[in-house]
Amino acid sequence: MGLFGSSSFVVFLLGLVLLLNIAVFCNGGKTSTFVRKVEKTNDMPLDSDVFQVPHGYNAPQQVHITQGDQVGKAVIVSWVTVEEPGSSKVLYWSEWHRKQKKVAEGKFTTYKFYNYTSGYIHHCTIRNLEFNTKYYYVVGVGHTERKFWFTTPPEVGPDVPYTFGLIGDLGQSFDSNRTLTHYESNLQKGQTVLFVGDLSYADTYPNHDNARWDAWGRFVERSTAYQPWIWTAGNHEIDFAPEIGETKPFKPYTKRYHMPYKASGSTAPFWYSIKRASAHIIVLASYSAYGKYTPQYRWLKDELPKVNRSETPWLIVLMHSPWYNSYNYHYMEGETMRVMYEEWFVIYKVDVVFAGHVHAYERSERVSNIAYNVVNGICSPVKDQSAPVYITIGDGGNLEGLATNMTEPQPAYSAYREASFGHAIFDIKNRTHAYYGWHRNQDGNAVEADSMWFSNRHWHQVDDSTTSSQ
Ligand SMILES: [Fe+2]
Repeated sequence: MGLFGSSSFVVFLLGLVLLLNIAVFCNGGKTSTFVRKVEKTNDMPLDSDVFQVPHGYNAPQQVHITQGDQVGKAVIVSWVTVEEPGSSKVLYWSEWHRKQKKVAEGKFTTYKFYNYTSGYIHHCTIRNLEFNTKYYYVVGVGHTERKFWFTTPPEVGPDVPYTFGLIGDLGQSFDSNRTLTHYESNLQKGQTVLFVGDLSYADTYPNHDNARWDAWGRFVERSTAYQPWIWTAGNHEIDFAPEIGETKPFKPYTKRYHMPYKASGSTAPFWYSIKRASAHIIVLASYSAYGKYTPQYRWLKDELPKVNRSETPWLIVLMHSPWYNSYNYHYMEGETMRVMYEEWFVIYKVDVVFAGHVHAYERSERVSNIAYNVVNGICSPVKDQSAPVYITIGDGGNLEGLATNMTEPQPAYSAYREASFGHAIFDIKNRTHAYYGWHRNQDGNAVEADSMWFSNRHWHQVDDSTTSSQ
């Protein structure tokens, strides 16, 4: 075959590939027909019981914990006192050594935001914990003591089962409360929450009323004090308000929520990684620079080759703004980050990407869109068994309400979509399998409105698509 002949053949082949892709992607996945009552989503009033200030002088409130190192042997305990600073100590002991009480010393900070002054925000890291052990801890030493407990994860290893909860865009509405209650009563018992951003929605109030940050901290304490929540920054964490002189982005968020970012070599709390049981979890920042040469870019480029799938088979990425989203809300907002990083996700075989931002639920099939190079015109998502499943779980129930308007027809890469509030569970069984289920708030605890068996991309790369047309 001459030169002309072979290039015609290539064009023919490319045409065939494009045609096949069109054939694959003209059939949509499933758009749920679930009928729900359409109601306005209202925030709970400040005198609601869920926002109650704990009794007693200078009682610690808004207690929350998160992982404090890379492997789960440390925990960051945070809380707020109001009357005076009080003690930043945490007393703690394991259930096996009740008489051996230990003390960790933390620090406190405060901040001002326009006409608001925060309480005394304490952060204390407890280190050198035993794996897989229940610990009790006490805060408020010297004034009103409050006791809580948590269980450390098992040691990092390839076949360690572990159950993650997934919540996003929670806010503090009556629906938010239903989502949290539904998560807590889920029979699968999530052990750690992977939170995909947008916490309090305080910025929707005049002057970003930071009292709503406090209220949110009290609302979620019933979960955050007992199990770690792994935080991702969303747009409602930016709190950038130059009109009232507040020009330092993320001020309330970074003062109130600490992450173990230095442990993974990150230089900012917005992007970092942790290992927990059999998962390596990478948290990315949709609202920090991610272009080439930026700190986040350089960190992620170094981080991905460090993921050891023999130690942590499951590679999970959290971000706020989704890359694949077929709702008419925040459409294509994640596109610029997708262009930067999607190829890496395919090369390193990320198992799943969880995002929020769009106030609805959607799960994709495994697709990638990395062939495009500006001049070749190959710009459609294609089936790709090395690509992650993309899940949008921004359906926590905040006051902005549901995203009900979808693009039509449903793209075939979209396996399931539904505009209802809910949460999900990602239940890792071993190095090859994880069971995933999404729970809408209207259903009973055992009901999953959407579910999927994940096959690990490193250890068991079989086709795990769920749509028949795929
Ligand atoms: Fe958002």
